[in-house]
Amino acid sequence: MVVVTYTRTECGVDFKNHDITLAVLNMEDIIHGHPKNFQINLGFQYEEDYLYCEDMRVCDLLNLKDVSSPVYVYSKKQIEANINKYKTAMKNSGRNIQLSYSVKANMNPSILELMRNHGLFLTLVSGHELRLALDLGQEPGKIVFNGNGKMNWEVDLACRSGVLLNVDSIFNMRQTIDVCKAGGYVANVLFRINPDINPNVHGYVSTGQEGSKFGISADELEEVLEMATTFEKIRVVGLHCHIGSTIREPEKFKQSTRVLVDLFNKLRSRFPDLYVLNLGGGLSIPYKSQISLPQKCKQVVQCEIDKNDDQEIARLYDNLLTSKLTLSTFLEAIKPLPRGKEIFLKLQEQVPSECLVPEPNDLLSSISDIIPPEAKVILEPGRSLVGNSAILLSRVLGTKLSKKKNFIVIDGAMTEVIRPCLYGAYHHVELAEPSRAAHLQNASDQSKLVWDVVGPVCESADFIGKDRLLFTPHEGCSIAVFDTGAYCSSMGSNYNMRVRPAELLVDGEKVKVIRRSETFEDMMKLYTNYYCFSQ
Ligand code: LLP
Repeated sequence: MVVVTYTRTECGVDFKNHDITLAVLNMEDIIHGHPKNFQINLGFQYEEDYLYCEDMRVCDLLNLKDVSSPVYVYSKKQIEANINKYKTAMKNSGRNIQLSYSVKANMNPSILELMRNHGLFLTLVSGHELRLALDLGQEPGKIVFNGNGKMNWEVDLACRSGVLLNVDSIFNMRQTIDVCKAGGYVANVLFRINPDINPNVHGYVSTGQEGSKFGISADELEEVLEMATTFEKIRVVGLHCHIGSTIREPEKFKQSTRVLVDLFNKLRSRFPDLYVLNLGGGLSIPYKSQISLPQKCKQVVQCEIDKNDDQEIARLYDNLLTSKLTLSTFLEAIKPLPRGKEIFLKLQEQVPSECLVPEPNDLLSSISDIIPPEAKVILEPGRSLVGNSAILLSRVLGTKLSKKKNFIVIDGAMTEVIRPCLYGAYHHVELAEPSRAAHLQNASDQSKLVWDVVGPVCESADFIGKDRLLFTPHEGCSIAVFDTGAYCSSMGSNYNMRVRPAELLVDGEKVKVIRRSETFEDMMKLYTNYYCFSQ
């Protein structure tokens, strides 16, 4: 793979020596909640109305050779901080846990390599993801292969390579036995259980309720167990469940873990090789972490600061007001402080729940007591490892004003961020540089307007954000769609013959192109033998 690396100076921009000191990026301290380390947001932060990704001013990235808008911009430090949160939580849990990244969230090989360099393994859902994992040198015995409908070649590759295969149904068990017979393989299998739990998420990302297409239901379980017992080439090593995605209640994980542990204890005498409990992924991220603090909350915080003259909270609050801290990071930062807890509890009731999402530590502390110490646990998160690590950086094409609706039309679209249109999901949108239009009018916050931010795709479902309060942007103004590291690039499409964008990985003041933009020729090469182009 060709990787192009740029440094900050190659952007041709005279960077001011902004005092966002990166010395605060001490991961261990951040994870342990040391308040001094909450001076800035890790990956993305604003400084004088310009958005930075680590050391790079993001609007300057659009001037790089071979980079055009829209483009995904990833922060390496943010991914590393996310990994470290899991690692610390795993250490604290006292259990034997394998952390496996769910490739479907984002399959960029450079991201997979980063995961591997930090000791993570991979969970997959297709034969091609498996081929990629094997090509990247992943240890097959640590790979988990999921899926409610696998093709014979996929099961064959999985059994031949010796990966852990999640059996999802009676027909999948039969298929696995047939493949093992034909190839002379022994398959290491986990049973994916449907525990019938409502995870309280959008119906499209709920996967462990009765009536879901995933997992073995209570009705089919005995028959699957019987088949596995009868055929000696099936080695039953574990149980698996994944009840859904964007889960915000640790209690849901507790419920599903209980179901799995009960079954684990019941089946151990029948299957002596049983040792793995795969608890799936599904932890959400605070998609509303960037929203501003509601006015009435501001009064609460100011009043507490004045009353107690609390310098630490005052400093954090100042960073929040100047957009150096997101609301979520601010709330996380004040929680462990002596007077902070009280303020936190007052604000918690008044901010949307998408601001405050449980962390890996909350997840593991809610379940570690019920996990048998001799079991090996697998966690397979996707979103919570990469979701907040990227923005989609776009340019404003123009604005439209009318009595009923105002539109900001950008060059990014549902083809790059399909989640709002598919699940009604919230992705924060913010200008990535000061609006020249706003500047001319000497704008204050009051001069912001309410906009729908939409793309150019010929479809009314093509919206990125609705009813967003933003300054009127100038044409060409760069604009950021936040939290696009998971399920955005990987769910991208060529609809309207749009090319899929490039992806950049920022590491301090270095920028790597980790995926080039697609071209017209890339799209057409699949048709060239079947269609005569006129000369
Ligand atoms: N394990 C299994 C078996 C899964 O099916 C999934 C995701 C994961 C792990 C990782 O879940 P995560 O930690 O990323 O929530 N396109 C949707 C998400 C679909 C996720 C499906 N399964 C979205 O954009 O929200």
